[in-house]
Amino acid sequence: MAENRRPESMERITSPELAKAFIDEQLAALRRQIGDKKVLLALSGGVDSSVVAALLIKAVGKQLTCVHVNHGLLRKGEPEQVIEVFRNQMDANLVYVDAADRFLDKLAGVAEPEKKRKIIGAEFIRVFEEEARKLEGIEFLAQGTIYPDILESGPVKAHHNVGGLPEDMKFELVEPLKFLFKDEVRVVGTALGLPEGMVYRQPFPGPGLGVRCLGAITRDRLEAVRESDAILREEFAKNGLAGKVWQYFTVVPDFKSTGVKNELRSYDWPVIIRAVNTRDAMTATVEDVPFALLQHITRRITSEVAGVNRVLYDLTPKPTGTIEWE
Ligand code: XMP
Repeated sequence: MAENRRPESMERITSPELAKAFIDEQLAALRRQIGDKKVLLALSGGVDSSVVAALLIKAVGKQLTCVHVNHGLLRKGEPEQVIEVFRNQMDANLVYVDAADRFLDKLAGVAEPEKKRKIIGAEFIRVFEEEARKLEGIEFLAQGTIYPDILESGPVKAHHNVGGLPEDMKFELVEPLKFLFKDEVRVVGTALGLPEGMVYRQPFPGPGLGVRCLGAITRDRLEAVRESDAILREEFAKNGLAGKVWQYFTVVPDFKSTGVKNELRSYDWPVIIRAVNTRDAMTATVEDVPFALLQHITRRITSEVAGVNRVLYDLTPKPTGTIEWE
């Protein structure tokens, strides 16, 4: 698999100048590979697929079609940001598919975490396939595969891969980032003019908020996850923690507890906050978030998020906990 090994002569991309050289080289290579043909990209809005999209827009413009599937498990504001950046600012061909109802219907009543993941993955491929079939003359499929994906799993990692498409839909792959490490992808993304919030965003799992709305997903609890996550992100950004903490999010379990709200007894869900640091996600330590900030976030979540009466902070490192709760 020599074509899957990073060339030894390749310099680590650490500066805007090196990023520019990489971009120029890739633009030429992409134009050579794609010619006047059409290319398709599943654009999640994550760092890797966003950088691939920005490169391809520069290289082949409207020959690229991006498909952004909203599976209903994205964070607050994410689909809007993808549309704003890629359709409005970069003038890309962007197909936006609001498939939230489809996914949530399929997931209804399913409590087992791996089953939830399988359903989300399979439905994603189905939606993407349907969109691909509507488009004529596509010959290439672009993917945001990066070097760790190749190193870790031989072939590309499942969540970067719209593999699983049917036999009659085999496209030639376009993987311009396949020899880059994450920090290099970020330097390239910045050089391409992508917003900082997109380039430096924290990792977000493919199944999205679906694995943070524990057990069988319900729409009301999913909203509680989304709204509490938005408050947490806003407060971390305001308090200088957003770029510092590796991953931070909220979880809503599928049980309730008694409380008091507006002098009335309530029976509502708790929100669990998780904020961790790690190098490789194999082990993780808990961020020492200032107590006053946790209290402030608690006040905001319990007063602004419907159906929530308690906030808990997860103090568990990995091991024994995993980073996600499911
Ligand atoms: P855990 O929970 O295993 O998470 O400690 C380690 C890292 O992997 C992310 N993660 C996922 N990413 N699909 C993904 O794309 C998944 O199903 C998935 N599950 C966990 C998690 O967010 C953390 O960064």
